[in-house]
Amino acid sequence: MPGIRILPDLLVDQIAAGEVVDRPSSALKELLENSLDAGSRAIAVHLASGGIRLIKVSDDGCGIARDDLPLALARHATSKIASLGDLERVASLGFRGEALASIASVSRVTLMSRRAEERHAWSLTAEGRDIAAPMPASLAAGTTLEVRDLYFNTPARRKFLKSETTEYAHCEEAFKRIALSRWDTAFAVHHNGRARWHLKAQPVAARIAAVLGDEFHASAISVDESAGGVKLYGCVESPEHATASRQAQYVFVNGRYVRDRLLTHAIRQAYEDVLHHERHPAYVLYLELDPEAVDVNVHPTKIEVRFRDARAVHQFVFHAVSKALSLSAAQSSRADSNAEERTPRPPPPERPYGGGQQTIALDVRESSAFYATLFGTRPAPETLPGGFGDTAAMPLGAALAQLSGVYILAQNEHGLVVVDMHAAHERIMYERLKEALDASRIPMQPLLVPVVFSGEALEVAAAEEERDTLLQLGFDVAPASPTSLIVRAVPALLQHADARELARDVLRELNEFGASRVLTERRNELLGTMACHAAVRANRRLTVPEMNALLRDMEQTERSGQCNHGRPTWHQISMAELDKLFMRGR
Ligand SMILES: Nc1ncnc2c1ncn2[C@@H]1O[C@H](COP(=O)(O)OP(=O)(O)OP(=O)(O)O)[C@@H](O)[C@H]1O
Ligand SMILES: [Mg+2]
Repeated sequence: MPGIRILPDLLVDQIAAGEVVDRPSSALKELLENSLDAGSRAIAVHLASGGIRLIKVSDDGCGIARDDLPLALARHATSKIASLGDLERVASLGFRGEALASIASVSRVTLMSRRAEERHAWSLTAEGRDIAAPMPASLAAGTTLEVRDLYFNTPARRKFLKSETTEYAHCEEAFKRIALSRWDTAFAVHHNGRARWHLKAQPVAARIAAVLGDEFHASAISVDESAGGVKLYGCVESPEHATASRQAQYVFVNGRYVRDRLLTHAIRQAYEDVLHHERHPAYVLYLELDPEAVDVNVHPTKIEVRFRDARAVHQFVFHAVSKALSLSAAQSSRADSNAEERTPRPPPPERPYGGGQQTIALDVRESSAFYATLFGTRPAPETLPGGFGDTAAMPLGAALAQLSGVYILAQNEHGLVVVDMHAAHERIMYERLKEALDASRIPMQPLLVPVVFSGEALEVAAAEEERDTLLQLGFDVAPASPTSLIVRAVPALLQHADARELARDVLRELNEFGASRVLTERRNELLGTMACHAAVRANRRLTVPEMNALLRDMEQTERSGQCNHGRPTWHQISMAELDKLFMRGR
């Protein structure tokens, strides 16, 4: 091993840049945050080639004095904090004095700025570490930062850049987060000379509608709750609308977009009572609390935060969202649609069960065929005991009947067994998917008719970028155009599920967590979601042999006593309990 040496400054910056600016959208985010910190009222963005060739951000903020211009590009130089005390109660988006230095080390930067009181602007160019002297320039008050040819001097990084469309999609997402965080600021975005966004300063509700679309806004439930110095406001999608998987889940903490497990968990938990299976409601929520109660300095891109009192924040968010959801359910004229889905009632012909997923009514013959394909090469149902004979060999017993399209009733040596058909099937599918993925990859089933659907930009991007992971998960899904996707094959085990919803759920997960996490720590969650899509829905009539096949499968499946969401899949009612009910002495 050679001796220890101090790294040259440029290399240090480039290493830091790897964390702060991993792609054009991260550079855009940093520039936009600087403009907001400078108190801008209007910000214009010009991008070329997905931001790879050019990212230009112009603002009307406070500007930078001539003598400070070179400092703006220096590492550890910031006007935003001066002490640890400042850091602990930081209210600005930036505080590390690192972003511009990192960006400048991997691109060609021009910084132009003018403070309102100065007679003209000054301009500074930098390439790598070479910073030229400021030159007079012409510009209205404010700052314009141009970043050209990202990674021109770091070819290894450049290789990781994806197509223009993909990079633009990420830039657009970064922009949306900023636009949602500051509705009092006007924004315009151009890409390759074409206007893409034009947002005027507006009230928060109008901004949410402008960014997420009127459709979301129309179905949204507003949240507004405060207690003990903590405030949560914004809106969440009503459970009835949360059928499709969505990308649109935004949480801001003190004006900063964050991805936080704790908050996501609290929100999801609030939906649990009203949304049976894991659908993905859209939401835009703003959490405000004392800056000293939250540490923002825990992640290179500041996308994660740490709460001093995590439990209290969790409780607060959970209650605020639950309250909004229940208020809206009470007000809803269709109160029925939020009612507990499993309350026994005469089944309508196509009762949606589980997050409003539509059930396709099949007749008995069709459903037998359907069930057989789901269960592949299992013992033929006809050979299974249908009578009440040898129940000792079958822990879950022999099927007697189906109740209300939801439960299977069976008899075993102890008495009556009640099985939640959907939950049990889901567990079985989950274990099979897990087995298949453990073995290497999930077997695919090409679709007779490929499914084409319009996709959000990030979904299209994920399909393009994560092709290998998708194949491993059993999906052949690819961009069909910049705004649409085509699904050609799905996991064989899930061939009867809705291919579009299934694909969207997987793409969404890939976008949010990246391929490596999806295949490791998020794996079981993803497989659970996939299994849920395929599991047999309520109201599908099963024949006695089919019910028996399901019971036998449960017996062979590990942990089949609980569904993936932790609910029990079956329940035993002993003869003794039944006798007690009927006051029958035995
Ligand atoms: N658009 C702008 N308007 C006014 N001043 C700016 C602008 N952009 C940058 N600056 C000045 O340049 C300094 C350095 O910016 P840079 O983004 O590198 O660091 P920072 O914002 O202080 O911290 P961080 O690295 O966390 O973003 C800022 O502290 C600010 O004084
Ligand atoms: Mg900054």
